[in-house]
Amino acid sequence: MTGQPPNNVHDAGAISPNAAVDRRPAVELVLARVGAQVRKVTTAKGRQRLRRPAWWGTLRRHHGFDPVYGQTRGTPVDRYYIEHMLETHRELITGDVLEVNNREYADRFGHDLASVTVLDIDATNPRATLVADLCLEGSLPVEAFDCLVITQTLHFLPDLDTALRNLLASLKPDGTLLLTAPVASSTSWPEHPLDSWRFMPRGLEILAHRHARPGDQFEVLTFGNRVTVAAFVLSLALEDLRHRDLAPVDPLCPLLTALRFRRASVVCGAQQLPATEPI
Ligand SMILES: C[S@@+](CC[C@H](N)C(=O)[O-])C[C@H]1O[C@@H](n2cnc3c(N)ncnc32)[C@H](O)[C@@H]1O
Repeated sequence: MTGQPPNNVHDAGAISPNAAVDRRPAVELVLARVGAQVRKVTTAKGRQRLRRPAWWGTLRRHHGFDPVYGQTRGTPVDRYYIEHMLETHRELITGDVLEVNNREYADRFGHDLASVTVLDIDATNPRATLVADLCLEGSLPVEAFDCLVITQTLHFLPDLDTALRNLLASLKPDGTLLLTAPVASSTSWPEHPLDSWRFMPRGLEILAHRHARPGDQFEVLTFGNRVTVAAFVLSLALEDLRHRDLAPVDPLCPLLTALRFRRASVVCGAQQLPATEPI
């Protein structure tokens, strides 16, 4: 990786050094500009814009309000949905739990915890109790966990299929994977140089279905809407929004997607249900 961000932001309004200088008299220039404005509003599309004006105000900017996800202003907007998802599945976060990077959510939302394993590929993470690469086949202990809390990690993984296989193999029968992934987000490069993907709900569904065994059940969830997407990509914070901005789910423009996957309870001789169809 070089010292340059992967995609430079180009200011469309910046004057190119090669741009030709308009040498028409000032009056002519003003008239040309007025004419352009008039043409803008006399077409059908122009009238449509007048009827439904968009005021960009302070949102017309090419950089966020904050360097990373709104953290210096308050709570990152995606955390509202991640935590809401874990809150509503509290009862599943129990027994032997695995979480990535730290144990914050296991401690906050879990109950009757028998053990909490903190997974990280990064051996320098002092909180990690299991240093392993999710993308290396067989890197997790088999049938070891009742619940996997895998929030905002999938988009860092180069091999999604191996990761899903490892995660699901590490679930005990009846165990649950709770996973969240970004649909829309800026990136925190260079802090996270491995940031590689964004996920549509359909993408999670395809992955889950590909790795589901007979009797497994899963559900893909969707959170957020255009207002929360706009706030999040501009690095505004949860505290910048009104409470009523948060609840609507716009399936055409969500912010976050999540997967709740329950491994089948495998009882010898018992009849197994067919694998869950994609929702
Ligand atoms: C942004 S954190 C997400 C977890 C955190 N609990 C959260 O909710 O934000 C991503 C973590 O995934 C780890 N990670 C990245 N690639 C990995 C891999 N291949 N195997 C295991 N962990 C990985 C990173 O080191 C980092 O600790």
